[in-house]
Amino acid sequence: MIKFPSEASLLKKYDVPVPRYTSYPTMPYWDTEKFTGENWIESVKKTFDETNDSKGISLYIHLPFCESLCTYCACNTRITKNHKVEIAYIRSLLKEWEQYKKIFGRRPIIRELHLGGGTPTFFSPENLKWLLSYLLEDCNIHDKREFSFEGHPNNTTAEHLQTLFDLGFRRVSFGVQDLDEKVQRTINRIQPFENLQKVTMLSRAIGYESISFDLIYGLPFQTPSTVINTFEKVLTLRPDRVSFYSYAHVPWLKPGQRGYEDADLPSDVIKRLLYETGRSMLKSEGYEDVGMDHFALPSDSILRAQSQGKLRRNFMGYTTTETELLIGLGCSAISDAKYAYAQNVKKVEDYALSISTGTLAIAKGHTQTDQDLHLKMCILEVACQGKITFENLLPLQEKSIIQALETFCSEGILERAQRGLQVTESGRAFIRNICSAFDMRHYSNSKTGVNNLFSKAI
Ligand SMILES: C[S@@+](CC[C@H](N)C(=O)[O-])C[C@H]1O[C@@H](n2cnc3c(N)ncnc32)[C@H](O)[C@@H]1O
Ligand code: SF4
Repeated sequence: MIKFPSEASLLKKYDVPVPRYTSYPTMPYWDTEKFTGENWIESVKKTFDETNDSKGISLYIHLPFCESLCTYCACNTRITKNHKVEIAYIRSLLKEWEQYKKIFGRRPIIRELHLGGGTPTFFSPENLKWLLSYLLEDCNIHDKREFSFEGHPNNTTAEHLQTLFDLGFRRVSFGVQDLDEKVQRTINRIQPFENLQKVTMLSRAIGYESISFDLIYGLPFQTPSTVINTFEKVLTLRPDRVSFYSYAHVPWLKPGQRGYEDADLPSDVIKRLLYETGRSMLKSEGYEDVGMDHFALPSDSILRAQSQGKLRRNFMGYTTTETELLIGLGCSAISDAKYAYAQNVKKVEDYALSISTGTLAIAKGHTQTDQDLHLKMCILEVACQGKITFENLLPLQEKSIIQALETFCSEGILERAQRGLQVTESGRAFIRNICSAFDMRHYSNSKTGVNNLFSKAI
């Protein structure tokens, strides 16, 4: 019988800083010097022209404002109680979209639309309606549209839900994170269960088809028993999807995370136990794994997409749409035009200024090489399908990749299957590490300090 290393020793070996691979190359390895604004416009135009009507395009809109800072948060936010900022920001978004429409040269077909943040529900329902009505003017809407938004349970109102539903939104994801009082106090996010219950019931009554909850493991003062209590409550609401993220602790990038001590965080072993605790509660209630860190009820379209090999991953996370052009609007938003990536400037003021001069607000970008495109395909296959087919493996000549895959096989993380290599059940914990085996930009680049930008894999 083959003897594999113990799970504990693998967890220790692989709990190293690794990207989440919502792009390849990951942003710290973008070749920003070779990228120009003209490259970007050409890539957008080329991908748009190649996009057939059945695919359509994706739009991500970054709405950065929040009324108060949850100290654990790693998103690009602007904290303010001044709601007058809404109008000026919407004007910039609409102007930016005009620029893109000029590049397209014909009406786009919108397949996927996601409002992220920050807190989209910081904006009033009237302002969201204004933004979206203008944004979708001169656009065709795909018959299989997927419109979704992130709602904060503390400030999502019936009017928000109804307004967005009327505009075609059918999916909402609520930030839950954790329901324990001490954990909530520590991360400055007081959010009673009743608020979550109320918005979930309202969403169902209005007709939302998929309700998703975001939870996190590894937050300060979480223990297996607080996680059990949180999941017991959460599961009474039967969300269609659950994202159970590993807490990204990056206080050198997010000073808010200095609001608690490193000693308040669960140890690596406990952190893994928290994940296993939540996962086994989800599994025992009929939820199934989707890629990494995600779960869904069998009735949710994302599981059908996974079993048909149609699950995709982009900057918005896992998705069921096959679009090849993703335009990100707003400060810090990232766009993917297949042959190139681009990110907007992060600060609200810099974004507004750039847009007011009639240009895009790109801060940096990357143009894809043929090798990048192939490795991206391999990484997506691992992250979405949990396998890597011979078809994608055979062209790979890189020694480091072949050696890493052999090691994963000898450790019981990957196994040989009929058409390639398959992630084993116990190997699921290491999906981020398997993806990193294909990351030639990481292997061949000696940039120092880059690891500090990533959170640990497990
Ligand atoms: C833009 S935020 C959520 C939307 C809304 N503002 C709210 O708080 O409900 C998107 C998600 O990112 C996740 N997130 C934020 N910071 C994180 C961190 N440091 N580690 C892991 N996940 C994080 C949270 O689960 C959060 O719900
Ligand atoms: S978790 Fe949500 S509400 Fe809290 S700071 Fe981050 S984006 Fe804002």
